[in-house]
Amino acid sequence: MALPGSRGTPYVAVPAGQEPLQAADHTAFTGAAQKTNVGDLPAGRYEFEPPAIPDYLKDTYSWAYLNPSSLRLLDRPLVVSSILWGNYRRLQRVTFGELRPGQHVLQPACVYGDFSPNLAAFLGAEGRLDVFDVSSLQIENCRRKLSSFVNATASVRDAADHGGIAYDAVCCFFLLHEMPDHYKRRVVDALLRAVRPGGKVVFVDYSRPHWAHPLKAVMSLVFNRLEPFAKELWDKKISDYASAH
Ligand SMILES: C[S@@+](CC[C@H](N)C(=O)[O-])C[C@H]1O[C@@H](n2cnc3c(N)ncnc32)[C@H](O)[C@@H]1O
Repeated sequence: MALPGSRGTPYVAVPAGQEPLQAADHTAFTGAAQKTNVGDLPAGRYEFEPPAIPDYLKDTYSWAYLNPSSLRLLDRPLVVSSILWGNYRRLQRVTFGELRPGQHVLQPACVYGDFSPNLAAFLGAEGRLDVFDVSSLQIENCRRKLSSFVNATASVRDAADHGGIAYDAVCCFFLLHEMPDHYKRRVVDALLRAVRPGGKVVFVDYSRPHWAHPLKAVMSLVFNRLEPFAKELWDKKISDYASAH
């Protein structure tokens, strides 16, 4: 799903199974974030105040994202593809289809596998990718994967804290289902504020499966066991988390 950013033209595309939605009043997205001209920023990596690791991440997902052994095991395209039931490449293609080479894009959390290098390559030499993640372990790993790209940076940041840069687009890939509702609200609002007027925020995440989907029962079990916040996206649309709605 893509939502309009601050003062953006209402635009909604829905790659991951939800009904298209139209923003009721695009002026309602007007944010107070300070806008900095991208051209004013120095090229290369830059750091911000390290954020605290949120409780939901420590309590629920430390085994997956904060543990070096898990990172070595899970950071493979094949693993991501298996978790997404073979849909990784298709979802990546649909996501990149919402973006354009030459854009300055924020990816607000790391993704295992080759998503970030592929995105940096897609944006090209004229474009730029900034990856944020609240975990320094993930960011160090992401920097390694992006080391051959001069157009990409990776910084330790919480996606809920907007840094005041007016991006052309934000690409939020399977992050929201891993956070509780109150945090989803903070992140959706921060990302909507992170784009320039007319910019686009692309969310790709789970939504309610069709009642007859053969994998619905399996996913329900997986979510009950491992992903306690994911089913909130079965009942709510991502736009419900935007405070302007
Ligand atoms: C994008 S999500 C999951 C993506 C997908 N399941 C995969 O293959 O990696 C995982 C990342 O989100 C990060 N993360 C979780 N909460 C965050 C937050 N509030 N701000 C920034 N990064 C966050 C975690 O540290 C982790 O690296």
